[in-house]
Parts: sequence; C-alpha cells; structure tokens
Amino acid sequence: MTIVIPMKAGPDERLRVAARLIREGKLVAFPTETVYGLGADALNEKAVRRIFEAKGRPADNPLIIHIAEREWLFELARDIPEKALELAERFWPGPLTLVLPKGERVPSVTTGGLDTVAVRMPAHPIALELIRLSGRPVAAPSANISGKPSPTDADHVVDDFYGRIECIVDGGPTWIGVESTVLDLTGDVPVLLRPGGLPLEEIEMVVGRVEIHPAVKGVEVDLARAPGMKYKHYSPNAQVIVVEGSRNAVREKIDELVREFRGKGLRVGVMATEEHGADAFFHLGESTEDVARNVFRALRELDKAGVDVIIAEGVEERGLGLAVMNRLRKAAGYRVIRADKLK
Ligand code: TXA
Ligand code: MG
Repeated sequence: MTIVIPMKAGPDERLRVAARLIREGKLVAFPTETVYGLGADALNEKAVRRIFEAKGRPADNPLIIHIAEREWLFELARDIPEKALELAERFWPGPLTLVLPKGERVPSVTTGGLDTVAVRMPAHPIALELIRLSGRPVAAPSANISGKPSPTDADHVVDDFYGRIECIVDGGPTWIGVESTVLDLTGDVPVLLRPGGLPLEEIEMVVGRVEIHPAVKGVEVDLARAPGMKYKHYSPNAQVIVVEGSRNAVREKIDELVREFRGKGLRVGVMATEEHGADAFFHLGESTEDVARNVFRALRELDKAGVDVIIAEGVEERGLGLAVMNRLRKAAGYRVIRADKLK
C-alpha cells in the first residue's frame, strides 16, 4: 500500500510518518528542488536494493546520497579536497552533486560497486526536513521507472510507483525541473559528469576550469567514471526528434517536419516556444528556466496524448540550456536535426 501525503504548503508534522518509514528501511518518494527522488536509508543495504528493484535500475548505476547538514559529508566521503569544501560552502543546499572517494560506512550497493560516492544537500524544505527527521543520509535516484522521463510532479511518481512503494510526499511541482549537476572531484581538475540544475558557468567562477566528460556530449567513450551515461534515458514511447539552430530557422523547420509527418499519416506532438499546428502541443514557456521546468513534463504529457512522433525545439547551450539539451538529445536517442545547415 502507498500512503500519499499532501504537503503542498511546505513541511509539517505529517513528515514524521515519512521519516519513520525511512528509518524502518522503507521507500519514500519526496520532492527536491530539481525532480522527485525515490528515497531510502543510504546505509541500509536491504532498503537500497529495493530502490534498484522498484526502478528496474541496473545494479552498477550508483545512487546520490542526500544529506541535511554539511557535517554529514565527512561520514560518507574521505580525502575531501579543498575545492569540494568551497563548492559545498557556496552552493549547498542546492542542485550540485559532488563525487568524492567513498567513506567506509557507505555500502557498495549504494555506490554501484564504485569506490567513489555522490553526495548532495537538496534545497527543498520538504526534502531537508524529511532527511533531518529521519536522521539518516537518504539515497535517492530520480523517482521514475528506469528509462522514463524524470518526475517533476507527484502525479508522475504516482503513475510510475503507486502500489509499489510505501509513501509519496506530494509537495507539488518541482522548481528547477532538471536533475542536479554531477561533478567529479576525485582528480586534479573537476570533471562535469552530468550538466544539471546548477549551471557550469557558476561552478567555474568558484573553482576555475572544469573538464566536460565526453559522454555529456554524447560521444562514446570509456564510461567507468560516469556509469549513468551509458543507459537509455528519458525516453517516452514516441520517437523524439530535436531541432537545433537559430530560433527562426528552427521554427520553420518544425513547421516543415509537422507537415511532412502528418502527410505520412503520423500523429505529431510538438514541444516548443510557439504553436505549430500539430496534433498535440506543449508550450515550453519563454525563458530557458521555463523550458528546464517543463521539459520532462512535456515528454510525459505528449506521450500520454498518444502521438507517434515528438518534435522538440532546442535551446542554446548556455546556463540551464546545457542540461536541457543533454536531456533532449538523450530522449531523442541523438536524432538531432540542425535547422540552419539543412536550409
Ligand atoms: O537532482 C537529482 O540529482 C535527483 C534528485 C532526486 O536529487 N537525483 C537523481 O538521481 O537524478 P539519479 O540516480 O537519477 O541520477 C544520479 C546520477 C546518475 O547518472 C549516476 O550514474 C550518477 O549520478 N552517480 C551517482 N553516483 C556516482 C558516482 N559515485 N560516480 C559517478 N556518477 C555517479
Ligand atoms: Mg534518473
């Protein structure tokens, strides 16, 4: 049975129920500022195994451990470099995950067998209070079935997990809409493993140059350091196509593609910043922040509308745009059309 606890106005007494479930080794989905997480006690091997089972997640894809106090970091990681402490000081609580050498107490199931551990302190008051009340570091991947778009609202979690986990805390829609930025600090130069809710530009202002792991751009490489990159991601049932380029060229190209696919008798969905006369349309908003907030919801809703093809308008790869394009290209299986070049 799944208890759904409505908490849209912010944390309240009812979180104690959810915190007790975490302590008992149960699964609790909760909102963070990025996406919903599927949480369990990170130090309880049995509980962590259930996360992998519920999601259908490969055992070698490690989980992020969520903490409520900076000091907890020292219990989970060791040999923490100065740069990591500076980043934690500046950006926590917030959408930044730090990969560091694993401390002894962390079971290897949680880290997918790696000798590193990923840690973040989320900024959502419900997440923070839940972790604090449970008194445990909480392992939490995004609360979606593996391969589906990440959940940015409690209904998405209900769709994927109702009846299969003990509790869903409903805090309404998440604020950022893409997952946290994952940064590896185990080498001399920090390496971006996943662009996310904290823009790379902001990180570089604190620690200087950051290397971008080639997998971020979709290049096939040795994926030992970024295990999450090798799995199919964010894919709805419909075929997704991303159109990139300057805004006007992109808009014309989308019009053309909509006509072409509909001419073939296909049902077409469009996610973009303006209408295109398709069978289904999701308005992504105006700013890159709007697009980030809406990208996963758009994929889920267009899929529910039963379209055969989803055409997505690309955004510039600056700020949150880097994370948005990474998610869109993955959802599309890297089927990308460059509008300018084809003109
Ligand atoms: O915003 C977020 O990060 C959300 C919320 C719930 O906090 N969580 C999330 O978790 O997106 P998940 O499991 O969906 O993605 C975690 C990513 C995966 O790509 C995983 O491979 C990577 O972080 N990761 C975790 N531990 C790692 C490690 N030790 N080394 C390298 N990558 C790691
Ligand atoms: Mg995920």
